[in-house]
Amino acid sequence: MAKIGTDLNSFILEEERKYPNATGSLSRALVAIESATKVIASHVRMAGLADVLGKAGKTNVQGEEVQKLDELANRLMVEYLSQCGEFFALASEELEEPIFPEEGKNGKYVIAFDPLDGSSNIDVNVSIGTIFSIHRRVNSDVSDFLQEGYKQVAAGYVIYGSSTMFVLSTGNGVNGFTLDPSVGMYLLSHPNIKIPEKGKIYSINESNDKKWIDKGLKDYIESLKEEGYTSRYIGSMVADVHRTLIKGGMFAYPADSKSKNGKLRLLYEAAPMAFLTVQAQGVATTGKEDILNVKPTDIHQRVPVFLGGKYEMEKLKQVLING
Ligand code: AHG
Ligand code: MN
Ligand code: MN
Repeated sequence: MAKIGTDLNSFILEEERKYPNATGSLSRALVAIESATKVIASHVRMAGLADVLGKAGKTNVQGEEVQKLDELANRLMVEYLSQCGEFFALASEELEEPIFPEEGKNGKYVIAFDPLDGSSNIDVNVSIGTIFSIHRRVNSDVSDFLQEGYKQVAAGYVIYGSSTMFVLSTGNGVNGFTLDPSVGMYLLSHPNIKIPEKGKIYSINESNDKKWIDKGLKDYIESLKEEGYTSRYIGSMVADVHRTLIKGGMFAYPADSKSKNGKLRLLYEAAPMAFLTVQAQGVATTGKEDILNVKPTDIHQRVPVFLGGKYEMEKLKQVLING
């Protein structure tokens, strides 16, 4: 097992060495994500200062145009991931259609990402993040994005919180790296993350309870309360899932009468978080099937999400089956 303090680059290279036939493609792809997110992190840390520094109106002190942070994060992801040449195609929450970068025409992977998750929290200084999901290129067209989640080669997120953390799985468990701002490196701080089998927290936007479609969901939440669970809901999926991975409990965005398939997107929110959850020995379901088994039909499709520890998810299954 890698030692605490190992930097993410060395960790990635070390992982690659376990596969004698590896070409280094995935390592270069991951390093590109790493670089992009470091730049995004530095902009996130400046959020709120853009207007101060850019008194002239639309340009800041460096003469750059002041952009909305989610657009900026998207541009940075597209730039870094295109340039690395390892991605045949890129899909983003912020782009209607995928991009096929010229530099990636021989790329072996496709990537879907949410450049900035929880963007409604930017203005109030609450944690936000970047989520990504990598699949192999197989058909060399848009259908490469429509592969099931269990086929992901790697998935992860970066949380811009009280510190910046990169949480990654390449299918060998989950590891968390904290950005040391003094050296600009992500250092292994949370090796081998495992969701506690039973936690103490439920995380759901309870204001929607009258609209929930799943019969039994309200009773389920009530019975968690009776068991002594407490509520935490940040409203940034990255932050709510991050807490769930570390402290346990459950996180959900269910279907409701307004959002018939829930709110979260399969490709760049639900599937990567489900991959990490399962790699951390938790469970992730739509309520009907494992999220990782859902065959996507559309790049921006939504699915209901329930994820968490074994205890909470087993209890949920009983309720949804009997409900
Ligand atoms: P995004 O900022 O990428 O659009 O995602 C916001 C999502 C997700 O982060 C969070 O779990 C959810 O919206 C919160 O939705 P509600 O405000 O409806 O609870
Ligand atoms: Mn999002
Ligand atoms: Mn987003």
